[in-house]
Amino acid sequence: MFDYKSYKDVDLKGKKVLMRVDINSNIDIENNRIRESPRIHALIPSLKELKESAVVIMAHQSRPGAKDFTSLELHAEEIRKLLDRPVKYVEDVFGEKAINAIKDLKVGEVLVLNNVRTWELENKQFKDFSEAANLEMIKTLSPLFDYFIADAFGAAHRAQPSIIGWPTLVAGPTTVKEFEYMSKILEAPEKPMVMLIGGAKALDKFKAMKFNFENDKLDYALCSGLTAVLIFEAIGVDTGEPNRGAIAKDLDKAKDDIKETYEKFKDKIILPKDLVIDDNGNRKAISIDELKEYNAVTGDIGPKTTEEFKEIIMNAKTIIANGPPGIFEKEVFRKGTFDMAEAMAAATKNRGALSVIGGGEMGTAAEMSGYAQDVSFISTGGGAMLEILSGKDVPMVRALREKKP
Ligand code: 3PG
Repeated sequence: MFDYKSYKDVDLKGKKVLMRVDINSNIDIENNRIRESPRIHALIPSLKELKESAVVIMAHQSRPGAKDFTSLELHAEEIRKLLDRPVKYVEDVFGEKAINAIKDLKVGEVLVLNNVRTWELENKQFKDFSEAANLEMIKTLSPLFDYFIADAFGAAHRAQPSIIGWPTLVAGPTTVKEFEYMSKILEAPEKPMVMLIGGAKALDKFKAMKFNFENDKLDYALCSGLTAVLIFEAIGVDTGEPNRGAIAKDLDKAKDDIKETYEKFKDKIILPKDLVIDDNGNRKAISIDELKEYNAVTGDIGPKTTEEFKEIIMNAKTIIANGPPGIFEKEVFRKGTFDMAEAMAAATKNRGALSVIGGGEMGTAAEMSGYAQDVSFISTGGGAMLEILSGKDVPMVRALREKKP
């Protein structure tokens, strides 16, 4: 299903390797710390496997302009805490400082470069891989390495230079593991199959849901977070200005398509019956009819919705979750997300369901809830996982196929 050369198929011993990983994490900006990061946790065993190489880590954090668009210094610190090997950091991507640090790096050491998205062109998509191969960063860094390891599974759907531009590519440990899991789900998902969709990036998630309905794979989509707001607004439900503002651009782009898709699959698209607002530090559940009147941010699913979602999850055989139902970082909005993680864990334990949690946010929430150990698999991919499960030939998968060493 996936056609690639693995890191195990080449001899990495004593070699200098560039490893593009995805450690995009949920950052607690006020306290300058990374919250539980399943992506960093997944990276540690991979680095342990590569202990006989000199490993340079390239990664991104968030997007330019966002509050959590930070350097990777905190990430390097976190890796250093968890790894029993020297971990260096350089506040540069491909300038003189980075080049010198890369040249000086010894076998057994790890070097983390700065956030690759600080280089403007990294934020562009290049469908034509040869165009990306001619960009300054790729041309400057390529001669310094023996191998390029594609391990940013979570960003596999981005045709950005650091993902697809290198002269050759082998799949890294995280990617190989993810491909194995994705193959299982793609080949024969046991039905009923349910998707739990929440968090941000509403339109991406809506499109993945639509694709899976159209291909007859999906039985139910439990929609929460901004995806629910997007659908509500498209079908004419006033969710209040603070909610609407967060999806306005997506709504502009795709309102008619969302409305049509909803009409077609409305028995399978389960929207919340109630949502929660912050009432001076207390949870207040309001019905969908009341959203307009309260005109406030709804940060979680309410008790009626939680019960309905739980029941569907408990009867499912395959459950894919991407994006938390609530703003779980805030205590007052945490319950719905933790309840969903608990339900997925119970469906796995009691009924043998295959449960996969994807995306940095939902993965973090699962770790914080204490149920992460009990779901079948925590994927490091969010949008990437959904696109792959939608049967799309995403850029990193294509690049791995076309750029085998
Ligand atoms: C993610 O968190 O889904 C990945 O790191 C990709 O991030 P992006 O959507 O900003 O490209």
